[in-house]
Amino acid sequence: MPEAAHSNQFTSTSSANAADNGTAGGNATSGTASAEQPAPYGGPATAPAAPPRRIRTLDLIKAKAEGRRWAMLTSYDQYTAALFEQAGVEALLIGDSAANNVYGHATTLPVTVDELIPLARAVASATSRALIVADLPFGSYEISDEQAVATAVRFMKEAGVHAVKLEGGARMASRIKAITTAGIPVMAHIGFTPQAEHNLGGYKVQGRGEAGEALLDDARAVAEAGAFSVVMEMVPSGLAGQVTAELTIPTVGIGAGADCDAQVLVWQDMAGLRTGRAPRFVKRYADLHSVLTEAVGTYVEEVKSGVFPEPERSFD
Ligand code: KIV
Repeated sequence: MPEAAHSNQFTSTSSANAADNGTAGGNATSGTASAEQPAPYGGPATAPAAPPRRIRTLDLIKAKAEGRRWAMLTSYDQYTAALFEQAGVEALLIGDSAANNVYGHATTLPVTVDELIPLARAVASATSRALIVADLPFGSYEISDEQAVATAVRFMKEAGVHAVKLEGGARMASRIKAITTAGIPVMAHIGFTPQAEHNLGGYKVQGRGEAGEALLDDARAVAEAGAFSVVMEMVPSGLAGQVTAELTIPTVGIGAGADCDAQVLVWQDMAGLRTGRAPRFVKRYADLHSVLTEAVGTYVEEVKSGVFPEPERSFD
């Protein structure tokens, strides 16, 4: 894996790796060779730097304690996964938003475990530093704690992810407890939970007014149940700030204001691949839709006019 273009804050040096491994950091050959004195017979003058290690859930919790924010994006394929990691994104989510952004559904509800696992496997395989989190899709964990653990185990074994995410607050506390007891880290998701959009009456801000207390209870319940972090979607900024100040686990905002410990967006939204009306919380950092439309339009023209393929792209 090439070095990070914009290394993330956890991208480790050899000494950080050594600390993680419980060994002394630094140059193993120090005292006998230096960067200026090549080793005899062409060997390396210094021990090669240990490869950067994977970010762990504990790194993200520590970052919160130290007041460092981190970034999360969705990813559903190898190229975006590798690129986002290189650009410094600390955590990647194979969201059930693949339903809308990969499979062409109108909601997140139809996507299945069997459809998400290959996407998650591609993201996990293409990365070496980011923490990879997979969403448990609708219908794969609601029935019982046993069902939730079995689904989470599938994502760990078949996709190689490092954590799972599920939607729901206090009502999902026993699922979170069961999955974490099985040794699998859980990211919770409260506030607006798209899998429950029909129950919530559509895309609406959650936790306004008197509902704020219930949202606080949800946040406390998921933390108490063992979640290592919690996504808050479409929650008033002040309330999200209050949750963030109270919990020791990191909060990940999406439409929850600037006081969260981390932020997450769907990549097709933030890169402007998806067009049309976007939720208020989406910021478009690029216009990939125009870039691709222009490139493909030029390709079509050149195919039709015979400009492509040029002689240098053809074989004798
Ligand atoms: O599925 C998803 O993409 C999500 C987030 C954007 C939080 O759940």
